[in-house]
Amino acid sequence: MVSTVPSAARVTRLLDAARPEAVAEAARLLAASSLVAFPTETVYGLGADASDPAAVAALYAAKGRPAFNPLIAHTADVAAARRLGRFGPAAERLAEHFWPGPLTLVVPYIGGDGACDLARAGLSTIGLRVPAHPAALALISAFGGAVVAPSANRSGRVSPTTAAHVMEDLAGRIDAVLDAGPTRVGVESTILDLTGETPVLLRPGGLARDAIAAALGHPVASAGGGADARPLAPGRLASHYAPRALLRLDAAEVRPGEALLTFAGAHPPGSDSAAEILDLSPAGDLMEAAARLYGALRALDATGVGAICVVPLPRSGLGEAMADRLARAAAPRPEPTDSEIPA
Ligand code: TXA
Ligand code: MG
Repeated sequence: MVSTVPSAARVTRLLDAARPEAVAEAARLLAASSLVAFPTETVYGLGADASDPAAVAALYAAKGRPAFNPLIAHTADVAAARRLGRFGPAAERLAEHFWPGPLTLVVPYIGGDGACDLARAGLSTIGLRVPAHPAALALISAFGGAVVAPSANRSGRVSPTTAAHVMEDLAGRIDAVLDAGPTRVGVESTILDLTGETPVLLRPGGLARDAIAAALGHPVASAGGGADARPLAPGRLASHYAPRALLRLDAAEVRPGEALLTFAGAHPPGSDSAAEILDLSPAGDLMEAAARLYGALRALDATGVGAICVVPLPRSGLGEAMADRLARAAAPRPEPTDSEIPA
């Protein structure tokens, strides 16, 4: 099983993206089959050369991620993405509207050796994204090929929104982290499957479903619902994005010993004796709340509290992605087996 493969101890260098030579150093490391975490507008990704099976195998081992779970290939522009995937009219339209941005498009794979089998988990499709972050784009351009990057956390854990989060999970297991400060969006990209007759939302994320529907001119169906439901993205397992503390959602009151994760100043009964209180956005701004979600879960975890209760959050816009991540973070956590390790 992949998670028990010992990954050779590595010295993890912190590269400050503000230094002019940092991006070139990171690109050289990628070209030498090394693993480099880098910022995107959503979360930090753990990058490897998409065409290099040895680098991708090391990436899976560093994360403890099962190899059946495919990776997103990041490119610097639409033209490079088109060399890897077949773009129909919907993909063209969405790429034009939303790239660079927090949207991953799953399309048929046509890229030859551009993304190795292991990176695609053997699928005939590929997830593609042009990230909206200057350091990410500079790194991918300097490297010159596609960069696969899952979120730069240990498998099953909360995604990192700062370089320090990456170090917490992966120091000693990867070669470098390109540090450009906290990420702007804070939740992963929205994943849309364009390989069937109609687009299907595989994962809600940093681009709201309504924005995609508006660009396409019709509503966007969810995976898992309806008569022609298709499976979720392979990596989408029930328990995921999990802090150590237990999570209780839609809490109407704070129970003894719990920490409170709140929003817009909500102050449910019992708040005064909460172990900790953290407000995702006192002003009630969903974008601010999404950007702070993972950092808040890590911060509350770090206090050593055993349980966190979360007030009900709005479901519109980025609220859909937040509700999805919180539901996974709160899901029961069976001991992972070979075929069930979340990524
Ligand atoms: O915002 C993001 O998407 C971040 C940043 C680093 O770009 N990346 C990220 O990657 O969240 P990861 O590996 O943690 O999640 C990617 C998800 C997985 O659930 C995987 O199963 C799904 O994308 N995926 C990748 N390729 C796919 C494909 N060909 N078909 C269906 N799902 C796919
Ligand atoms: Mg992930």
